[in-house]
Amino acid sequence: MKIISLVSRKGGAGKTTTAQAIAAGFTAKGYRVLAIDLDGQGSLTHIMNAANAGQTIAPVLAGQLNIKNAVQHTGKGDIIAANASLDNIEITGNGRELLLKKALELVRADYDLVLLDTVAAFDILTLNALTASTGLILPAQCDILSLNALKNTYDLIQSARENVNADLKIYGVLLTRVSSKNKTAMQIADLFKQAAMTMNTRVFNSQIRESATVRTAQALQLDILSYRPKSNAARDYQAFINELMESD
Ligand SMILES: Nc1ncnc2c1ncn2[C@@H]1O[C@H](COP(=O)(O)OP(=O)(O)OP(=O)(O)O)[C@@H](O)[C@H]1O
Ligand SMILES: [Mg+2]
Repeated sequence: MKIISLVSRKGGAGKTTTAQAIAAGFTAKGYRVLAIDLDGQGSLTHIMNAANAGQTIAPVLAGQLNIKNAVQHTGKGDIIAANASLDNIEITGNGRELLLKKALELVRADYDLVLLDTVAAFDILTLNALTASTGLILPAQCDILSLNALKNTYDLIQSARENVNADLKIYGVLLTRVSSKNKTAMQIADLFKQAAMTMNTRVFNSQIRESATVRTAQALQLDILSYRPKSNAARDYQAFINELMESD
């Protein structure tokens, strides 16, 4: 069972959108996928059209609910939902970063892929995600501020490797919301490639273009691959998903 977190220290990088697309794309290929919403705003929960009351990730982490009882089935992958109660749970004490990892042990045989959608802030939930993960995908908008944020994200990953998860792998940086192939955008993409190399990882060949269709699909609580399979964003996400399937 692979456990992949979508991580970036900058908001609006496309973490949630990418989690939804991967869940849909891998499910369509026959993988058993579980997506877990670790954001109290419940964005992934909403766009995957899951219920956001009752059996969410918060009581699982609080030790009050078996993880298996929190799972909701959708045609586009299973999901464990989040709502605002996640912002209020107290996660303290020794081993507090291990709660999610331990909960996931119970579903190890049930899934091929677990996706963890994190928030941009570095909090105990993100630390739980980094501790539980076998690998990371780092979505980033193709602009200079996001490049700086990538460096912050990397510091966070290095600290997680030193303290909680020495084997944490980075699958790569995914450039999202790419608006044009103008000279500046190409130069910034090159800077991302250089930065990725210093982090012993890569920028995925597939880049995700900016496309209003993404927002429309999400407004309708649909994934981009089934909503408009021929749109630029759907083609880009499909190419990315194929690339990810080929990585070990
Ligand atoms: N390729 C795209 N084209 C157009 N809009 C996009 C694209 N990808 C994401 N968006 C939109 O950009 C916004 C941010 O995306 P998303 O919520 O996936 O980012 P995030 O990294 O999860 O943000 P946060 O840190 O706030 O959780 C959303 O409104 C989403 O619909
Ligand atoms: Mg998000």
